[in-house]
Amino acid sequence: MDASHVEDDLVNVLFTEAQIQEKIRELAGRLEADYAGQELLVVGVLRGAVMVMADLARAMSRHVEMDWMAVSSYGSGTKSSGVVRILKDLDTDISGRHVVIVDEIIDSGLTLSWLTSNLTSRGPASVEICTLLRKPEALQMPVDVKYVGWDIPNEFVVGYGLDYRERYRNLRDIGTLAPHVYS
Ligand code: PRP
Repeated sequence: MDASHVEDDLVNVLFTEAQIQEKIRELAGRLEADYAGQELLVVGVLRGAVMVMADLARAMSRHVEMDWMAVSSYGSGTKSSGVVRILKDLDTDISGRHVVIVDEIIDSGLTLSWLTSNLTSRGPASVEICTLLRKPEALQMPVDVKYVGWDIPNEFVVGYGLDYRERYRNLRDIGTLAPHVYS
């Protein structure tokens, strides 16, 4: 679905499908240039990263291996606990591999900060992060992110993998959710 199907639920459309696809092509181009001549394993963080992974991988004119992790971001249900638990681990041995973790958003930074150290401890050749969105104002943990699509304000955004109570993930655009939906 696109923004017109849920326009009453959105304050605005932050990025249209066309803008997102252009940004994905730009990120894919940078990855292709930086990993030219090297094997590349991209690791998607379920579930939000499904759309970015699918589009990013297909935007590349080269082979790219894909694997997935699922983590429960916060043990106690609050964003401040910082507890991360692996629900689904990689199927791939990443030692000696060039790895790029792909996610759709970095909010507090807790998930990606934890994930980066976890994967780094497995002895890869390199680990970098690629995220479509980042909220600098929400950051609680420093995360070294090499590939960022856009920095956005600290607002509730949905679409292109981002959900509110498991809805809106299949929205092709990215929009700011109207307060009446979640209040
Ligand atoms: C989102 C997103 C990141 C994480 C970022 O996942 O995909 O993994 O939150 O937040 P942080 O920077 O505050 O740690 P979420 O936990 O919502 O799960 P989902 O991907 O299944 O929607």
